[in-house]
Amino acid sequence: MSGGSEYRASAADGLPARVSGAWAREKLEYLAKYMSIFNVGIKNKWERVYIDLMAGPGRCVEDDTGDEFDGSPLLAVNQKEPFTETVLVEGDAALAAALRQRVEGRATVVEADCNHTALIEQLRDRLGYGRLGLAFADNLGLDVTLATLLTLTQDRKVDLCITFQVGDLKRYQDNGWPRHLLEMQSASGGWRERGAPRRAAAALPCQSFFAPSTTWGCSRQDPLPR
Ligand SMILES: C[S@@+](CC[C@H](N)C(=O)[O-])C[C@H]1O[C@@H](n2cnc3c(N)ncnc32)[C@H](O)[C@@H]1O
Repeated sequence: MSGGSEYRASAADGLPARVSGAWAREKLEYLAKYMSIFNVGIKNKWERVYIDLMAGPGRCVEDDTGDEFDGSPLLAVNQKEPFTETVLVEGDAALAAALRQRVEGRATVVEADCNHTALIEQLRDRLGYGRLGLAFADNLGLDVTLATLLTLTQDRKVDLCITFQVGDLKRYQDNGWPRHLLEMQSASGGWRERGAPRRAAAALPCQSFFAPSTTWGCSRQDPLPR
């Protein structure tokens, strides 16, 4: 199973659950709120596609307490105002199989590397030109490449939610930002200036940020730094 992460059998269904900290719950609370605003706000105007680029098995378990809670894929399929379509990408075969059981046909589960060119083309087809997308990149490191995000969003309307590990942010802030993050910063309209590293230095070991498609779309016109 996925390197570096720990999994336990869920007390509820016996399938693997991702061992997480309290911060994961906080991250997912923000994501769930964004999903709800996204779906309710535009339900009469747009078809809505949720894409989870690194979906996991669907359930998490808090390390200290043993409490179990829904991961991002189950939050998506359990939305009160549902997405028109949900596509969940997971690279690990056993986790993808567990996820498929948990979503019970309410989403398409794809076992694949989320950076695979053919997959991204398929996701672009699902988005089409007349739908709005919400894509979540729940990075463990910098797993979802900039090329993937740029290709996915080129000529498509997609809001992005991206998780960065705070350790990476701190390290890159101290040592100079690598090209990859600088490119993302530019492409998302300058998230660094919005204080992410300062927040990152606080308690949470990871930080997510949202880049609405309007911001992303506008700043995609800017040349990327060389
Ligand atoms: C942080 S976990 C996802 C947690 C999930 N968002 C949740 O809320 O429960 C990241 C997942 O991405 C998967 N993964 C890692 N690299 C991947 C890749 N290149 N393509 C697809 N999945 C990948 C891992 O197997 C792991 O299950």
